[in-house]
Amino acid sequence: MTAEITPLIAGNWKMNGTSVALAEVRNLAARLAEGGPPRCTIVICPPATLLERLSEFAAPAGIVTGGQDCHPALSGAHTGDISAQMLADAGAQYTIVGHSERRTNHRETDELVRLKALAAMAANLIPIICVGETEADRDAGRAESVVASQLAGSIPDEWAGQGIVIAYEPVWAIGTGRTPTAADIEQMHNAIRRDLVTRFGDRGAATRILYGGSMKPSNAAEILRIENVNGGLVGGASLLANDFHAIISAV
Ligand code: 13P
Repeated sequence: MTAEITPLIAGNWKMNGTSVALAEVRNLAARLAEGGPPRCTIVICPPATLLERLSEFAAPAGIVTGGQDCHPALSGAHTGDISAQMLADAGAQYTIVGHSERRTNHRETDELVRLKALAAMAANLIPIICVGETEADRDAGRAESVVASQLAGSIPDEWAGQGIVIAYEPVWAIGTGRTPTAADIEQMHNAIRRDLVTRFGDRGAATRILYGGSMKPSNAAEILRIENVNGGLVGGASLLANDFHAIISAV
């Protein structure tokens, strides 16, 4: 990891969790209270239905919350969508944008992701902008160029507030139990860092780059040790307090 950047461990609950799941966060909060102050920022991105409740009781435990997506517009006739301002109003400080599941299931383009990131920043949220190659891209040797093109199209030129977070999530590693080798993660994160520095200078050098895709207690320490890995975006393993706490403790 890069010493001067505070790491961030974010849990993405995806479409999982009803009121019952809040008990896991209480459990996590209790475990955090037992140890010393965590050496990272802890974010949980629950389903929107739990955001407000979770934000209220997680804050005293030092856990902040985020949305999983937002609409590019401030408000309007967009049935079923949620705006960045609504997420902020419900207590969120972050929001994921451009997750590969949204890019695939909802055909989201880099341009739409860029507009969502802008909307997030306009609402004082920090967008966690996701990028990552498919298995076919990697097999064809174009993983880095695909990610570079996603970064070019998805990151706005103008940043507001506290800037952005990038999450590198190889699509083939999400929910599969498979992860790239440490060398492959390092190569991609270094490439992302070079890109950010070339485009944004010091702000690019200070931007957190998270790794996501089958991060779990058994591999977190190894992954979090890699240069330019400034935290993780955790799916399945963020649903259980024990596993998520173990990953936080691995920082
Ligand atoms: P898993 O940790 O379940 O592989 O999911 C990763 C992810 O998509 C987080 O956004």
